Amino acid sequence: MMSSDSSAVAGGLARHIPVLARRAVTWLGVRDGGVYVDATFGAGGYARAILATPGARVIGIDRDDTAIAAGAALVEEARGRLTLIEGRFSELDTIAAAHGAAGVDGVVFDLGVSSMQIDEPARGFSFRLDGPLDMRMGRGGPSAADVVARASERDLAFIIATLGEERHARAIARAIVKTRAAHQIVTTRALADIVARIVHSKEGAIHPATRTFQALRILVNDELAELARGLAAAERVLKPAGRLVVVAFHSLEDRIVKTFLAERSRAPASSRHRPQMIAAPPTFRALTRRPETPDEAEIAANSRARSAKLRAAERTDAATRSAASETRPPRLPSLADIMRGRA
Ligand SMILES: C[S@@+](CC[C@H](N)C(=O)[O-])C[C@H]1O[C@@H](n2cnc3c(N)ncnc32)[C@H](O)[C@@H]1O
Repeated sequence: MMSSDSSAVAGGLARHIPVLARRAVTWLGVRDGGVYVDATFGAGGYARAILATPGARVIGIDRDDTAIAAGAALVEEARGRLTLIEGRFSELDTIAAAHGAAGVDGVVFDLGVSSMQIDEPARGFSFRLDGPLDMRMGRGGPSAADVVARASERDLAFIIATLGEERHARAIARAIVKTRAAHQIVTTRALADIVARIVHSKEGAIHPATRTFQALRILVNDELAELARGLAAAERVLKPAGRLVVVAFHSLEDRIVKTFLAERSRAPASSRHRPQMIAAPPTFRALTRRPETPDEAEIAANSRARSAKLRAAERTDAATRSAASETRPPRLPSLADIMRGRA
């Protein structure tokens, strides 16, 4: 998301200041003639930082069509060095190949939502601004209001506990089900008010609805499965010595990145169940032993930077691991099951 270490990029309703952009681009090792995938284009802060190296080319991906449309000026400015594609980063290898890059020199992910998404009430991400309870980064699929209307109490409690790491998940789920029996919950304010009657934050702490909103946003956008698939896609598309850089904003995301890099940077132990894995050499070499975090100045300038963690790794020349060893996110009720009204 945001920080003070790079120039702000105007876009949409709010200025989006990228978090850890300078460090992310340093880890990418951008060079003249290199091709880089910015898997989360957003307001283009990272892409702009990569393009500052003459001769570098960027393929920018975002599932949000408004981010792609707002990037048109940067495409023009980049004079053929920036290609923008509306799509999901789980497909970044096929997207890159379709745009002339079967192998790339770097892939960077700056996860989560952008300021333009959070600060636009109509997108329904914010518990501070009233708007429709939507939360979809792209256009398709069920919205957060659909999930709140259809999910069983048990599924709601599980989702809020697992994806929001919320202690009061069961009480919140019970209150949602009770309220929706009387009237539909279709606005961000309505949901935030229900949660605030149950969760009481200390002064200066996060808003009571933060965790519930996080849970619904992650579910609606299938964020954890997208991340696991996106990392596997990066492994497939990176050339030997190509760099992978990921900036994560909460522990569920960071755990997936950490596990993926740990798994891929050591040879798998032998197993009589998976004898084919024995000889598989590491596909990555970790560059950051511990995650890098923003300094105090960056956090002071931009509170959204406070939870950021950056991890970087370099691709080896080993063959891509099979999809079977893909990092698995927590098992959740599927959106399709929820919409079918599965009990
Ligand atoms: C934190 S913002 C990125 C900001 C960007 N680095 C910048 O400097 O402006 C994250 C962006 O990733 C996009 N995004 C999230 N998940 C995605 C996915 N699975 N596929 C493609 N884009 C995704 C969001 O729509 C959002 O625009």
